Amino acid sequence: MARKARITPIIPLKVTGTGSFLPQKTLTNDDLAGFLDTSDEWIRTRTGIRSRHLLEPGEIPSRMGVVASQRALAMAGKKPAEVDLFLVATNVPEEPIPGTAPHVALELGLRRTPFADITAGCAGFVYALSLAGAWLQAGLARTALVLGTEALSRFVDWSDRSTCVLFGDGAGAVVLERRTEGSGILGVALRGDPTKLDLLRIEAGGVRLPASGETVQAKKHFLKMEGKGLFRAAVGMMAEATRAAAAQAGIDLTDIHWLIPHQANLRIIDALVKRLKIPEERVVVNIDRVANTSTASIPIALDELVRAGKIEDGQILALTAFGAGACYGTVILRW
Ligand code: UT7
Repeated sequence: MARKARITPIIPLKVTGTGSFLPQKTLTNDDLAGFLDTSDEWIRTRTGIRSRHLLEPGEIPSRMGVVASQRALAMAGKKPAEVDLFLVATNVPEEPIPGTAPHVALELGLRRTPFADITAGCAGFVYALSLAGAWLQAGLARTALVLGTEALSRFVDWSDRSTCVLFGDGAGAVVLERRTEGSGILGVALRGDPTKLDLLRIEAGGVRLPASGETVQAKKHFLKMEGKGLFRAAVGMMAEATRAAAAQAGIDLTDIHWLIPHQANLRIIDALVKRLKIPEERVVVNIDRVANTSTASIPIALDELVRAGKIEDGQILALTAFGAGACYGTVILRW
């Protein structure tokens, strides 16, 4: 404890609010087995997933981000007008132009706040969190809203059992406020390995391969994944980034009270935890109920932890993620 008291955040800030939103509709593994050659047993044992939340066809995706943000702002006791920076981590935007952030900002009532989408695969939230922290530290903002929101259900091929069973929709947000000491970001290790960009992609719909009848027919607008390759890379990437962020923070891995890993596969989480030797009871897992919500997975898990009253001031959290790009990284926070 004495050692921890010496640690000064590299970016002093306080997370004063968290919020999340999951669509009402759920789809269980048994529901999937009703129209796919799969089973609850296969999905549960290979991934840890039992159920996922999905947007209904007519639901507007940005609504998830709006509600998650409103919940985070309410917890922080902040009005939208007090937000100086709004960053949205997402992979598939509301529309290619102008993206997701302006749609959510419009509904939140932001009118002069700078906003932007951040695309860094499923690591988008940890990227956005550290960027917002740097803005606070530089004095460019006093209050930042960081949102992760994702509706990959609209981009998976529902006849491809190797991908569609893995994902769920949802959103999670945090409000960050500037501080001069005490709590904040202790360490950041963000990485990108573009030699792995083939592992997870949607090939069409961008400028390389714009939408056409052929791209639709060839199913090139759906998410394609090399599951095994990603699985193999994920554990090493998150372990390395977590060790590097901890070293920068000047903490031991044993000082981590809560590890919040990206919820992609329970077997990936188990292997990571084993490698880092972090006790199971310190690891936050909700993949069984929400599946992989990409950029939303960490802020949803964080919000559930906060609302369950489990985090105490002064505790150390490690948030770690990997995904398309391959972007990955870890942020270590003192609460
Ligand atoms: O946010 C990051 C995004 N993605 C990830 O992190 C995914 C990382 N990868 C994974 O989680 C795992 O690789 C998967 C869960 C995707 C797959 O698990 P696996 O243990 O690597 O299985 P596999 O791909 O080697 O497939 C084993 C078998 C195959 O059948 P054969 O070739 O052995 O006959 C698949 O066709 O399982 C079959 N299979 C399924 N069977 C029933 C694949 N998906 C399913 C399914 N139900 N849903």
